[in-house]
Amino acid sequence: MRHFLSLKDFTKDEILEMITLAQTIKKETKAKIFKPYLEKQTLGMIFEKSSTRTRVSFETGIYQLGGVGLFLSSNDIQLGRGEPMKDTSRVISRMVDMVMIRTFEQSKLEEFAHYSKVPVINGLTDAYHPVQLMTDYLTMLEFGISNPVVAYVGDGNNMTHSWLMLAAKLGFELRVATPKGYECDANIIKEALAIAKTSGAKITFTNDPKIAVKDANVVTTDTWVSMGQEDEKEERLKAFEGYIVDDNLMSLTEKNAIFLHCLPAYREYEVSEAIFEKHADEIFTEAENRLHAQKGIMVWLDQHRDD
Ligand code: CP
Ligand code: NVA
Repeated sequence: MRHFLSLKDFTKDEILEMITLAQTIKKETKAKIFKPYLEKQTLGMIFEKSSTRTRVSFETGIYQLGGVGLFLSSNDIQLGRGEPMKDTSRVISRMVDMVMIRTFEQSKLEEFAHYSKVPVINGLTDAYHPVQLMTDYLTMLEFGISNPVVAYVGDGNNMTHSWLMLAAKLGFELRVATPKGYECDANIIKEALAIAKTSGAKITFTNDPKIAVKDANVVTTDTWVSMGQEDEKEERLKAFEGYIVDDNLMSLTEKNAIFLHCLPAYREYEVSEAIFEKHADEIFTEAENRLHAQKGIMVWLDQHRDD
């Protein structure tokens, strides 16, 4: 059985298999063909943080695949009152067929997976957001980006860490621009660079967004204040001055560069209103693709239960 906890656990071929499944199922969905790939299966969805896209896409996705989603907010289940993760896992995984978790520490997700009888999917932790990156890759392909040169401008956070893993596994170019003091986790950088050596990925780091975006064909960013960092808001807003993705920055990219944002977006902080609206088609296709990419992941995990 395989879990989907981080992209580092998958080979390039496996990642591409999931993307191919997502593309196939997206085509079927668009033609209103709903094959029961996961008939009568239940997806438990545990949320310890807020969500719009993750909840709606997983719940709709499992339903369209012939199953049903159970929304389990930690405010409502005993986990929120202190029931251990390992007990929650041993109970829920005896009743459902797959579990998605959004939580804080990656170690909590790993603990759940360790005790689980069914595949577990990372729906965002402080360290990674891998389902979003599968989505972003699917979106890049749809917008004709077959040779990505990606510039990530902003916080060295869960999104950035997942970009590092995606680039390292698939072997494309990624430039990361973060302010001093907000760089990516050193261990994750080390792991990604080790993987990049075998895939040929070119991964570079800078404190200058202009260097990162020069001739890039994909520019992306994320909020400067992730969930759980609300107390740091004031100091973060100061530290990230000059990191807004605006017309000035986008004018340095390749002419047809696309802009991606996992959302929610904070206008006039990490991205200007003008750039956001100019690239709304890419951004909202990306949002929709959460539905399709995650179907590919869920069906792939179901097909690998006996591994
Ligand atoms: N991008 C993303 O994961 O959005 P939500 O927090 O709304 O799920
Ligand atoms: N980095 C953000 C992503 C939200 C989808 C957060 O963790 O809050």
